[in-house]
Amino acid sequence: MKTNALFIVIAALLLSACNMQSVTGKENIEMSITKESFGTTKDGKQAVLYTLTNANGCVVKMSDYGCIITELHVPDKKGELADVVCGYHSLDKYIENSPYFGAVVGRYGNRIEKGKFTLKGKEYTLATNENNISHLHGGNVGFDKVIWDAEPLETDEGPALKMKYLSKDGEEGYPGNLSVTLVYTLTHDNALKIEYEATTDKTTVLNLTHHSYFNLGGHGSGSILDHKMTINADHYTPVDKDLIPTGEVRPVANSPMDFTTPHTIGERIEKVEGGYDHNYVLNKPEVGALTLAAKVVEPDSGRIMDVYTTEPGIQFYSGNFLDGTITGKDGAVYEKHAAIVLETDHFPNSPNTPHFPSVVLEPGQTYTQVCIYKFSTK
Ligand code: GLA
Repeated sequence: MKTNALFIVIAALLLSACNMQSVTGKENIEMSITKESFGTTKDGKQAVLYTLTNANGCVVKMSDYGCIITELHVPDKKGELADVVCGYHSLDKYIENSPYFGAVVGRYGNRIEKGKFTLKGKEYTLATNENNISHLHGGNVGFDKVIWDAEPLETDEGPALKMKYLSKDGEEGYPGNLSVTLVYTLTHDNALKIEYEATTDKTTVLNLTHHSYFNLGGHGSGSILDHKMTINADHYTPVDKDLIPTGEVRPVANSPMDFTTPHTIGERIEKVEGGYDHNYVLNKPEVGALTLAAKVVEPDSGRIMDVYTTEPGIQFYSGNFLDGTITGKDGAVYEKHAAIVLETDHFPNSPNTPHFPSVVLEPGQTYTQVCIYKFSTK
């Protein structure tokens, strides 16, 4: 009851604060946050689904289970909204089988070779939850599979959710009590902004990211091979057969990996074994600068997504493992290349690759990251 009452107060505050002119010139759309039940987890915890609406009528639906973005509605060049992320309408389906649709990924985004790393002379062993070979996306019960504490927020930028989770010392094999706070804001200029913060009480490794599957034509509209993309990176990190970086930092020039100028994703994908699933080393004026990492344009709808990050890398995954066996929202069947994932983070397997930017977090330090998915049209 207490939470409900608080919620009504916040919604009222939001409504009164938000009688503003929309940036698209459409008036009288009110910013709001509402909530509804999203079902029950296997261990009996209640999950909640929040709906955030900005002053333009853009909508994000997000659960406290895994911070999963289940829907993201943004306009095309005619102003028509479409839901541009893959996912499900029910919690049960996320629990049953989800390739990290829309979730936060942690403690370690992407792979750690053989699930082992050494810190301060001590070897740590993690779950090899990817085919008994690698540790992937935080292990068996990563940050995508736990309930976070959610607090709806009124901000000048737009409706937001502050999410908190305490990952206990030893959880999934990682050292340190890790306290994580994420703020997701649906801004009035049609961006999804994610701000990350974390602290630990023991030396640990950390690499958080967000895992939405985007299709700017709409999540059920087929393949993303016609999306045109630019990635602001002169180098990438090649991988071995298990998708572990070899350690080489290789120029993209004169190869199908080169997105320094716009190319459709499909243009050269046949020349990339298995499809794109690589970390790009972002061009940055200085470490930690918030810069444009990637631009994606869908020609028919005119939707554009610009991805900004403070992180040194971006994992570009072209939905290679989608194979039509997943039926998502509204009966949409997600075939191979039905979506792209652009994960801003540090490089895969950094704990075992000393010349990659460090992912070590020490007590007294604060991990921070800002990632912005900004939507517009042309
Ligand atoms: C990441 C990885 C992919 C795959 C997906 C989840 O993006 O890079 O190899 O594991 O997650 O299916």
